[in-house]
Amino acid sequence: MTDDSTITHEAFKQFERDKFSLVAQEYDRALAKLTGGIAVVTSQVDEAILDAVEAKSGIRLLDVACGTGWLSAAALQRQAIVTGLDFAEKMVAIARERCPQGSFYQGDAENLTFESGQFEAVVCSLGILHFPNPEKAIAESFRVLKPGGRYAFTCWTPPTRNPFMALILGSVQAYGSMDVDLPTGPPLFRFGDPTECEMVLSAGGFTQVSVRELPIKWTFSTPEDVMPKIIVSSARLGSMLAMQTDEQRRNIENAIIEGASKYATENGVEISASVMLAVGHKP
Ligand SMILES: C[S@@+](CC[C@H](N)C(=O)[O-])C[C@H]1O[C@@H](n2cnc3c(N)ncnc32)[C@H](O)[C@@H]1O
Repeated sequence: MTDDSTITHEAFKQFERDKFSLVAQEYDRALAKLTGGIAVVTSQVDEAILDAVEAKSGIRLLDVACGTGWLSAAALQRQAIVTGLDFAEKMVAIARERCPQGSFYQGDAENLTFESGQFEAVVCSLGILHFPNPEKAIAESFRVLKPGGRYAFTCWTPPTRNPFMALILGSVQAYGSMDVDLPTGPPLFRFGDPTECEMVLSAGGFTQVSVRELPIKWTFSTPEDVMPKIIVSSARLGSMLAMQTDEQRRNIENAIIEGASKYATENGVEISASVMLAVGHKP
């Protein structure tokens, strides 16, 4: 368990809802542009997430914090019956356009409006770190699963195992301030720790819990591309970068450009990262 007494729950939720609605188009475009139409970050782990919940034809799958619907689209490719839910209206609108065969709703992962025991699979890709009360979101996912159903979530690993996060956060720490005026949110990397994933799923009633790390790659056209893309397409990281003073931002950007240059390849700048994939079964 972590101490969440400093998290400003409602203010943080409001920030997330507003910010992700604001960046929805750019979030989708930034991810899609990188590989000419494929959402680089999500798509690299989509199949592993769907395998973990045994997504296949005819199963009812709920995609919590579905964003712009890339994982839902991959589940639809497997002929699953897909429902998606996200807090941010604009994210939901893009998911609906991407996946006309799915059903998408605006809503809160911590207070699902679905009846209990409806889904064979619930997935949550890079959403859990955005919920002020992840235990509540996990309990809700457990509730809407049928007995025998499967749950899987992913979360970023911390900078010690994640060169991309090390580059961004290390540059802010060196040349700027981590202490910007944002509503206090849940720890970014809590579930980058496999023990923490196991504990939270077991405490939530899940059995056969397993956790593994999956490598992914962020690809940018040039080192100069990195910081502007993060600013326009993410919530907390982007706001933290945007809220530095002009001088701090210039210095951070120079550090990111210098660091990113070391990852230049003939296919662009490829910076490795990883996520934890945590899976549990509802008995
Ligand atoms: C980093 S994005 C991940 C989106 C998508 N799953 C993906 O992998 O591309 C995080 C998403 O969580 C959503 N979100 C944040 N808090 C939420 C909440 N309490 N309930 C539902 N969605 C939430 C945001 O609107 C955003 O779309």
